[in-house]
Amino acid sequence: MVKVLFVCLGNICRSPMAEAVFQRLVDEAGLGDQIASDSAGTGSWHVGEPAHAGTRRILAQQGIDYRGRARQVVAADMADPRTYVVAMDGSNLDTLRSRFGHHARLYRLLDFAPELGRRDVPDPYYDNNFAEVYRLVEAGCQGLLATIRQNENLPA
Ligand code: 4NP
Repeated sequence: MVKVLFVCLGNICRSPMAEAVFQRLVDEAGLGDQIASDSAGTGSWHVGEPAHAGTRRILAQQGIDYRGRARQVVAADMADPRTYVVAMDGSNLDTLRSRFGHHARLYRLLDFAPELGRRDVPDPYYDNNFAEVYRLVEAGCQGLLATIRQNENLPA
């Protein structure tokens, strides 16, 4: 099983959205038994909470019912070097590196959507721009799935 962990700060806005969007792409591709997606936050403020209403609303508009609860990223998440750990922004990346050290497969989501010319998925917690975040997340998830299919030799 290929494991993918999306990481943001609170695990209530961006990374749950990415987890849900990516899981849907995986399911649509018929790869649900080969790729498992999850998400976590570097912070602990929202542990146990459902996703932010803005994230749940935009997922619902896409027909996705997300039931996950926020949790904090732990060392065990990073233990398997084959796990794709996909951060939403550079700050998340810095936090993961300083807390857990080197991880062979540590990325930013928008590494997989270079055509966007952006590096970070902005935090919608303060500006409520969930529609823009969704656009970026979807592009990044599509690129990520294409990369994983290639790397792991999964059927196209
Ligand atoms: P997220 O957004 O990292 O995309 O889940 C945030 C959620 C909560 C906070 C910051 C960002 N917060 O400061 O509580």
